[in-house]
Amino acid sequence: MSAQRQKFDGYAAQYDEWFMKNSNLFASELKLFQKALGNIEGKRLLSVGCGSGLFESYIDCTNVEGIEPSQDMGAIAQKRGVNVIAHSTIEDVELPNNAYDIVYFNGSSSYIEDLKPAYAKCKRALKEGGRLILLDVPKESAFGFMYLLGKSLGTYDHGYLDGAMPSLPYPLALAASGVWHTTEEKIDVLKELGFANFTYYQTLIRNPLYTNEEPEEVQEGYKSGGYVAIVAEQ
Ligand SMILES: C[S@@+](CC[C@H](N)C(=O)[O-])C[C@H]1O[C@@H](n2cnc3c(N)ncnc32)[C@H](O)[C@@H]1O
Repeated sequence: MSAQRQKFDGYAAQYDEWFMKNSNLFASELKLFQKALGNIEGKRLLSVGCGSGLFESYIDCTNVEGIEPSQDMGAIAQKRGVNVIAHSTIEDVELPNNAYDIVYFNGSSSYIEDLKPAYAKCKRALKEGGRLILLDVPKESAFGFMYLLGKSLGTYDHGYLDGAMPSLPYPLALAASGVWHTTEEKIDVLKELGFANFTYYQTLIRNPLYTNEEPEEVQEGYKSGGYVAIVAEQ
């Protein structure tokens, strides 16, 4: 158990509230999450960086285990039905070998500097033919640019962004503490590790200013979306 202050400590309420206020954006991301997971009946799953278990609270999470470094977030996830097996980072946790049908990172790769050892650990934890699923804001997307601009300016409240910002942007502190990766960077890491049979899905195709107007349907591919899922087999 890590006593070190974690990036999401103190942000649990703000994080959930942001999704609840941006309910159409949340609905679009939830559809992507469900599409990428597919049928989970009878499967054993691990959510890496499960946060507050917000997305898991919309699926049957009986067989979902989670690891989460932030105590605040993990405590809420536990209450929502995720079996939080460790309040830890992926770097520090020990995982059983050959144990899970699905291991997924929903938004958490964007807070991890060195992806290769993290994904390698998950590969060992997957059963043969198991799936690793990575869902994230791509660095190269409009959302990625917006977060990186906010991070470098130290604010969203800047003349450069006049008229371009959604009314309720993602909390700046969380955008600024992100390590935004491109989708192809992640694909390359997975290929180096020997993952195969890739599938890609995307949502949040609209520009951020208009994303919350209505829920979007999931599309195949990864080159347009502000939220992208990579599904790869062990
Ligand atoms: C954007 S939030 C996503 C939370 C949750 N998966 C969701 O979709 O609502 C990113 C999460 O990754 C966690 N995280 C950050 N660094 C991590 C690491 N090194 N290992 C595992 N989780 C990490 C954070 O504490 C946070 O809960």
